Amino acid sequence: MSEKILEIRNLHVTFETPSGPLEAVRGVDLDVSAGELLGVVGESGSGKSVTFLATMGLLPTRAKVTGSVLLAGEQLIGASPKQMRSVRGRLLSMIFQDPLSALNPVHRIGNQIAEMLQSHQSLTNREAETRAVELLDIVGIPQPNDRSKQFPHEFSGGMRQRVVIAIAIANNPKVLIADEPTTALDVTVQAQILEVIERVQERFGTAVVLITHDLGVIARVADRVNVMYAGRNVEQGTIDSLFDHPSHPYTRGLLASLPRPGKQRLKPITGFPPNMLNPPKGCAFHTRCEFAAEICKLDLPELQTFGDLQTACVRAKELPRAEVLS
Ligand SMILES: Nc1ncnc2c1ncn2[C@@H]1O[C@H](COP(=O)(O)OP(=O)(O)OP(=O)(O)O)[C@@H](O)[C@H]1O
Ligand SMILES: [Mg+2]
Repeated sequence: MSEKILEIRNLHVTFETPSGPLEAVRGVDLDVSAGELLGVVGESGSGKSVTFLATMGLLPTRAKVTGSVLLAGEQLIGASPKQMRSVRGRLLSMIFQDPLSALNPVHRIGNQIAEMLQSHQSLTNREAETRAVELLDIVGIPQPNDRSKQFPHEFSGGMRQRVVIAIAIANNPKVLIADEPTTALDVTVQAQILEVIERVQERFGTAVVLITHDLGVIARVADRVNVMYAGRNVEQGTIDSLFDHPSHPYTRGLLASLPRPGKQRLKPITGFPPNMLNPPKGCAFHTRCEFAAEICKLDLPELQTFGDLQTACVRAKELPRAEVLS
């Protein structure tokens, strides 16, 4: 097992809202190893973005964050704003869920990359500009020298997303968090952007956390996957083990609803994600789970090792083998 670069332990995030406290993240444990591509999947509202915004120290101050986040051994929970500014962009970068608005419309592309470089490295303007052009080349922008002098509105959506990636990797971070980096793009451009992310991971040994609700994307590019439901990690493991024999009923449901060639019918998960202001007691999935028993309504299940997977389901061992591949 390679070195763990990011270790999240017992992370809780609670927002004070007009309707009362909303616990968006409810005890997440998650590891990212150096150089790996970890997929994080789960329905809308399951706490994917909040988990990593907390990791980046980017939540509003009214959010209460507890637990431990170690990045290369450095504790980020409770770190000062100054310490977090030094970490962000240098050790840890994030591509946000709405990346197309992440660029400043009135600044030239090359200057925006140079600014990120100079915020963490002592480079002259000339050096930063040269490096910015190299970065545009790395993310696949043609004629990077000319392009670096242009403004965001002169770039297509896919091109702008490449620029956002160039900014995120400018200082060669150890971990790159990509939050739904392809949702706003059409399918062919999505595939190209995923290729750029994979290329960065391979070329620079950057660990990547790819957040998505699309298990198909995860299957294509990730080494391991974490499945989130209602602010918890409900299953984690390698891609092969998760796709070959998912144990958690929620993961089974996700796989059964995945389109496959030759598959006759998709079987969506019934019901809706829970209201996080008042999540179900016990296992939050029990209200939608075809295997739920009385015990599931009582106890919050912890992750347990089950073959090659870790699964938070008290019934996982006794359930029939999933027939997701049929
Ligand atoms: N700033 C905030 N204030 C109050 N509640 C919030 C805030 N940000 C997120 N939440 C709530 O936290 C929960 C988790 O949200 P999060 O954005 O992490 O979901 P997600 O898994 O990223 O979903 P999506 O796939 O839609 O991006 C949701 O119930 C959401 O409404
Ligand atoms: Mg999100």
